[in-house]
Amino acid sequence: MSLTFLPPNIQPIQSLIAQQIGMELSVLRLDNMHPLVNGNKWFKLKYNLLEAQQRNLTTLLTFGGAYSNHIFATAAAGNLLGFRTIGMIRGEERLPLNPTLSFAVQQGMQIFYLDRQKYRQRHTAELQAELQQRFGNVFIIPEGGGNLNGVRGCMEIVNNAAFDTVCVACGTGTTLAGIILSLTKSQRAIGFPVLKGGEFLKSDVDNWLKNYLASGLPVAHEEIASWQLICNYHMGGYAKVNDELLQFQQQFTQEQGIPLDYVYTAKMFYGVMDLLKQGFFPKGDRILLIHTGGLQGNIQRRD
Ligand SMILES: Cc1ncc(COP(=O)(O)O)c(C=O)c1O
Repeated sequence: MSLTFLPPNIQPIQSLIAQQIGMELSVLRLDNMHPLVNGNKWFKLKYNLLEAQQRNLTTLLTFGGAYSNHIFATAAAGNLLGFRTIGMIRGEERLPLNPTLSFAVQQGMQIFYLDRQKYRQRHTAELQAELQQRFGNVFIIPEGGGNLNGVRGCMEIVNNAAFDTVCVACGTGTTLAGIILSLTKSQRAIGFPVLKGGEFLKSDVDNWLKNYLASGLPVAHEEIASWQLICNYHMGGYAKVNDELLQFQQQFTQEQGIPLDYVYTAKMFYGVMDLLKQGFFPKGDRILLIHTGGLQGNIQRRD
């Protein structure tokens, strides 16, 4: 599997409050590892693509919304690595295609649409069998790369970096689960759900951890690091924004030179900076914020 990546770099955040209380605040820039296949998306795809390759399956089929970072990354990775790709998109076709789907099509992805009711069945054996029959022998990757291969790839994100607390934005919690499994007992992970009512992710993440540990896939440590969710920085729900968030996003980029996407990373960064002001983190804490990419979504706003 050969894509050329820049090693993800760790960039310090200049924060007066952090300095005053002797804290170290840094960003792991997964967003600039590769121009097209980057962020947590690559880590969630990596072992899926390896498994497809090992099983001699040359077509990847996956699912996503019309603005999906995962559809974007799968189309690009497939094109670069010689896989045929099929994207099953939630909802009705809308023409002209938005920039995410136009890009996917340019990369050679074949796009089909599933109405919302059918899309809800995407995890069922029935729909998967129907798709296998329709498209031939395809390697199915779940929406967002959310499976144990995805968790396994995300165990490689932090890569032994010496931090006490690792913060990440959560959609399905797959990335958080991989990060938790890679940390030592003395470190902790904090997930910031970007969906409203993100408390439901607690049991989802527990299940990822349990299922991963029962799967026989490689583990980094015997004991699981501590972790928690902070659920009050969703700003109204998935892909919803308010003026405060947009202002924060703009100001942060200006001051730190780090672009953020407004669906995931801006909410997590906002949350961390807010918690910092409230004295949430222990004095001397070394905090690593994971920049999970998603910047392709900034050129378009959702409805
Ligand atoms: C940019 C970005 N950050 C964070 C996430 C959240 O990842 P997960 O679904 O693994 O929680 C996603 C979605 O996959 C994403 O696209």
